[in-house]
Amino acid sequence: MRRTVALLLTLGLPGMVASLARAADEAAPAYPPASELPARAELPDPLVTFAGGRVRTRSQWTEERRPELKRLFQHYMYGDMPAAPRDIKFTVEREDRRFFDGKATKREVTIAFGPAGAPKIQVLLVVPNDRKSPAPVFVGPNFAGNHTVVKDPTVALPTAWMPAHFPGVTDNRATATSRGTQVDVWAIDDAVARGYAVATFYCGDVAPDHPGRVDGVFPSFREPGRNDGGPTEWGAVAAWAWGVSRVVDYLVTDHDIDRERIAVVGHSRLGKAAIVAAAFDERLALAIPHQAGCGGTAPSRGKVGESVKQINERFPHWFSGVFKTFNTQPERLPFDQNGLVALVAPRPVLFTNAVEDQWANPEGQFQVLKAADPVYRFLGAGGLDADEMPKTGRLIDSTLGYHIRPGKHSMGREDWKVFLDFADKQFGKASPPK
Ligand code: GCU
Repeated sequence: MRRTVALLLTLGLPGMVASLARAADEAAPAYPPASELPARAELPDPLVTFAGGRVRTRSQWTEERRPELKRLFQHYMYGDMPAAPRDIKFTVEREDRRFFDGKATKREVTIAFGPAGAPKIQVLLVVPNDRKSPAPVFVGPNFAGNHTVVKDPTVALPTAWMPAHFPGVTDNRATATSRGTQVDVWAIDDAVARGYAVATFYCGDVAPDHPGRVDGVFPSFREPGRNDGGPTEWGAVAAWAWGVSRVVDYLVTDHDIDRERIAVVGHSRLGKAAIVAAAFDERLALAIPHQAGCGGTAPSRGKVGESVKQINERFPHWFSGVFKTFNTQPERLPFDQNGLVALVAPRPVLFTNAVEDQWANPEGQFQVLKAADPVYRFLGAGGLDADEMPKTGRLIDSTLGYHIRPGKHSMGREDWKVFLDFADKQFGKASPPK
């Protein structure tokens, strides 16, 4: 039986326009085009404002510079993210208290929100049973559907468009033959064994990963009658990040979850979304963008790995139209990805990489953390306790953390061990079951 667990405020006008508006503090002033911005080879200092002034006090950071950086990232790179919907509804579709041989409870929750026609997000939540207090949780989007990350014939199949290259996809739709094919990617049993819950959703529920912005959240959040949101329309990375926040909207209502210990995780393109989500949503207490690379954790400046031009040409729907004007001049961006990390401060962030994944520029990512460190120090939050890249396999577990392992571009159980070690260090142990 379906059970509606929460119904928050409903919009006066069923429809929308209110939810199309950005939050008041996000209202963007007119910013100059890329060609009029100064070219700078080095990563810009997040503690210097757009107008060139130095941030000297904590309140200048939180009340002026931080909101400014959020506006700049939306305007020049990710596109404008809508405010949180005011009409959001959570429905628990299924619950199994004997999941993982009784070690966990599985809950599947549908999240619905306006404007009319907006897609629904299906969440798979697995919570450890053996615990004395609410569980810390990892939340993040997955690539191929909730039904792929556990072996369970009852998990709902996604209905949205899906790339053909994933196993068991027919006519760009998921089928039951793909159940359980990504169990080792999410390693949910490992997280549960260490006292953590995991909440995940299919990224395509929010934004199917194909060019055109024709489905997912895009059409519903445009002005009625328009089929293009203009040069600052949000891209898929921002939409996936926004989807993470909608799942957090649910998690903070679930009594089994510790709302102070919500970590966001994502791999690669979804790692880009993870760091954006943490930058924009302060309820996320820790961020692990795994092998996120260009447009996420690697610098836009420089020549190593994927370039801004390459990513914009191959994936035109990931970022805003304005970001493409930096294709041949990324050094004119008024920020770099250290500014995105700075938006997460003082909360912990771990960058995880692999030696053979040079496309994601692991060394450049280390430099990004170094260039975010001054903001963490300024806020008295620690920082990156390393001057040089650590040896392969050695975790730097300071507030800004870093890890590089042997091997390729992938996410799996050995990565989860590092994620869990870092979360234990930063959150305090999650009282694992005996
Ligand atoms: C491509 C893309 C990367 C991305 C990766 C992934 O390699 O160029 O930016 O991170 O796909 O999502 O796996």
